[in-house]
Amino acid sequence: MRITKPFIFYGILLMALVNMGCKQSKKENQSEMEIETTASKPNPIEETTFGKMPNGTEVKKFTLKNEAGTEVDVITYGGIITRWTAPDRNGFYDDVVLGFDNLDQYLEGNPYFGALIGRYGNRIAKGKFSLDGKTYTLATNDGDNHLHGGEKGFDKVILDAMPKEDEEGAVLVLTYTSEDGEEGYPGKLDVKVTYTLTDDNALDIQYEAVTDKPTVVNLTQHSYFNLSGQLSKPVLDHKIHLNADTYLPVDGGLIPTGEFREVAGTPFDFTEPKLIGKEIEADNEQLGLGQGYDHCWVLNEGKDSFRLAASAYHEKTGRFMEVYTNEPGIQFYSGNFLDGTLPAKGGGTYVKRSGFCLETQHYPDSPNQSDFPSVRLNPGEKYTTRTMYKLSTK
Ligand code: GLA
Repeated sequence: MRITKPFIFYGILLMALVNMGCKQSKKENQSEMEIETTASKPNPIEETTFGKMPNGTEVKKFTLKNEAGTEVDVITYGGIITRWTAPDRNGFYDDVVLGFDNLDQYLEGNPYFGALIGRYGNRIAKGKFSLDGKTYTLATNDGDNHLHGGEKGFDKVILDAMPKEDEEGAVLVLTYTSEDGEEGYPGKLDVKVTYTLTDDNALDIQYEAVTDKPTVVNLTQHSYFNLSGQLSKPVLDHKIHLNADTYLPVDGGLIPTGEFREVAGTPFDFTEPKLIGKEIEADNEQLGLGQGYDHCWVLNEGKDSFRLAASAYHEKTGRFMEVYTNEPGIQFYSGNFLDGTLPAKGGGTYVKRSGFCLETQHYPDSPNQSDFPSVRLNPGEKYTTRTMYKLSTK
């Protein structure tokens, strides 16, 4: 058979076109598959707008999710955790942290619900401390004393946020530069706080900071928990365990007196799990001063510096929370100043003791108490500390 040249030409052209078409459709299929794989994987971090500051600055909300189904909402205002869901023993999810429904309510007056606290978590007596012979004066925003970083602590600033995903889980990195002299503290402080939600329901918090002048730092997280999921109900039915044989008694302004007191035989003994409500009304001078529990416990040392500090158990729902840290202390605050005036999320109000805080930290007033572990940070050093809240059921 005689094959003409044009026939060969058109034949080759046709084959080439068919081949190209195949390749093209293969490519399309491939990208469909890729899209499918991406789409079937849960997106661990969702970004939305939470509200606007009075000056128009947008406050963003990031929702961290894990495979188990837990969700943690964090906003860029104060690094506040506004929602944190956890399953009960039947797998029913509830929000377990106090907070508000919208930004305006946070701006109107927030008793540090869910907030990052800095530069100094807890109190500094009379708002004064000295470093290298120079005295620094801070705001006295809690009676005669300085509390939680002052008038505009880290709980009230806008932080930069960078969401990312790594093998550990959903990660949100928050950064903030506190200028030299801000709230009276020396040194420009660059702060980085990393929240990681892991698949085994732990929120791991890593705090880092560097300074350009000697300063003091004590960062913490001020979430109020109510593991019942009924956020406006008292938490007296939660069992607390604190890994601490001693605590720091306070004066009338809740400043440690300097004494390390044994907890044994007192209402401050949580070495075995005990209901918050069991002895909170006991006739005890220290409970009177705190109007309940509002003290720093001196954590026992462990084999590792990162050790179990505390746990909380709500028997009815089975929700159990463990707190691990490498900090020397933990402030256990039983929500004594909540008085039923603040609106609860989804309705009702936050009554007295409707939430408890387990704030890992260095001891209150450390800058003025030479027997306490130092909170000084020098240029060239890096402040790093870690706390993990792990939720489960039993
Ligand atoms: C802390 C303090 C409490 C109280 C709360 C916020 O943790 O120790 O006394 O000020 O913050 O209301």
